[in-house]
Amino acid sequence: MAKVSQSLQGMTDIEFPEVNIWQTLESRAREVMLQYDFKEIRTPIVEMTSVYLHSLGDTSEIVQKQMYAFETRGGKQVCLRPEGTAGVMRYVSNNMQELQDARLYYMGPMFRAERPQAGRKRQFHQLGVECIGGASARQDAEVIALQDSLFKAWELDGVVFQLNTRGSSEDFPKILDGLRSELMPSTDDLCEDCRRRMDNNVLRVLDCKNPGCKTVVEGLSPITTWMAPESVAYFEEVLATLDTFGVSYVVNPLLVRGLDYYQHSIWEVTSDRLGAQDALSGGGRYQMKANGKTIEGVGFGIGMERALMALAKEVEDKFSAEALPLVMLVGQNEEAQAANLPLIVQLRELGYRVRMDLNGKSMKAQMKAAGRQQARWVLIRGESELEAQTIQIRDMESGEQREVPFADIAKTLNTHW
Ligand code: HAM
Repeated sequence: MAKVSQSLQGMTDIEFPEVNIWQTLESRAREVMLQYDFKEIRTPIVEMTSVYLHSLGDTSEIVQKQMYAFETRGGKQVCLRPEGTAGVMRYVSNNMQELQDARLYYMGPMFRAERPQAGRKRQFHQLGVECIGGASARQDAEVIALQDSLFKAWELDGVVFQLNTRGSSEDFPKILDGLRSELMPSTDDLCEDCRRRMDNNVLRVLDCKNPGCKTVVEGLSPITTWMAPESVAYFEEVLATLDTFGVSYVVNPLLVRGLDYYQHSIWEVTSDRLGAQDALSGGGRYQMKANGKTIEGVGFGIGMERALMALAKEVEDKFSAEALPLVMLVGQNEEAQAANLPLIVQLRELGYRVRMDLNGKSMKAQMKAAGRQQARWVLIRGESELEAQTIQIRDMESGEQREVPFADIAKTLNTHW
């Protein structure tokens, strides 16, 4: 049995200083969302299992084996959300009269019962975007451009946008038939999983990592072969609009995505800093039924843990650094410690980040703590300073110390002398 003090496998605590990087990414993301006029939506973490069952596709890996599903005491089938799109569709279908022009984003934990490894967790976090209504190629391109702006705001370099199209729902039967008939003669060369996929999930053969399957797939016609000319033209317009927006991409004809709700544009962003789990994000246009309504949308989900892993070391260091320098108040005796209590209030009201010892520690112990907590300035008072209405200000970077009139504290700190 796991010790009580351990977190569950694949679920981690996010602690200081790493949590600072999260906060920077989140606050920069909010600025980008504002520029694109997307509003935040916070949906519950637990949903009815039915919200996911049909929308993600009964053959998708998530539905087949990765859901944390359980029955409540009242007999309801519920689960921890494995992704964000289906819950947002539940919200939209219940709360919006007109299923158009909803521009929503969310940030939060998702849960999938996968085998944990680097970049693959059981509780992970997504920043997701869903743009509902307006089924147009330009809309797809705008959402991809939003993602590009996010990565730029995060100073995330070395990422590649890989794009493909799955065609429209009318194209699907032709694509599946076409693929099956081309694959049929090579069935024996496919791996066991792909042989099973021939019946119920033939698209996934295209992105199988097995070397034998890869060789078979190389000889196949591109899936655009079986699409209507309008679907091909739609995708070309997405690409042309991305050129206009100045977003770089590559077309990957073998990209299919693992969720059934997609049609037309799909994309994944990869980073070579990620290793085996190299997908930083995935998205696409989808059509989904919720509460009997058909909803058209386009969106994406970014894996936040993977975004952190893909940051360059110097960017990581910059984001994890504290924005506000720490001021530490030190009192040489009990009288000075008591006098520091109102001072800490004043300094906080002036906007400083301030701490002091509240446990009656010795002067030496207080100075030690200031070093450990990487204080930028230490403000020291003893008997003589109290009498003279002054304070010693020590610059911890240079080691220089000055006695200044009590009234000049803020002025001295602000000018960094
Ligand atoms: P997804 O491709 O399943 O798409 O997940 C999006 C991203 O979440 C992945 O690219 C990856 O970075 C991250 N991710 C997924 N599973 C894990 C895991 N076990 N550990 C760490 N990170 C993970 C979706 O979820 C769709 N809802 C995206 C979407 C929104 N499509 C349209 N709208």
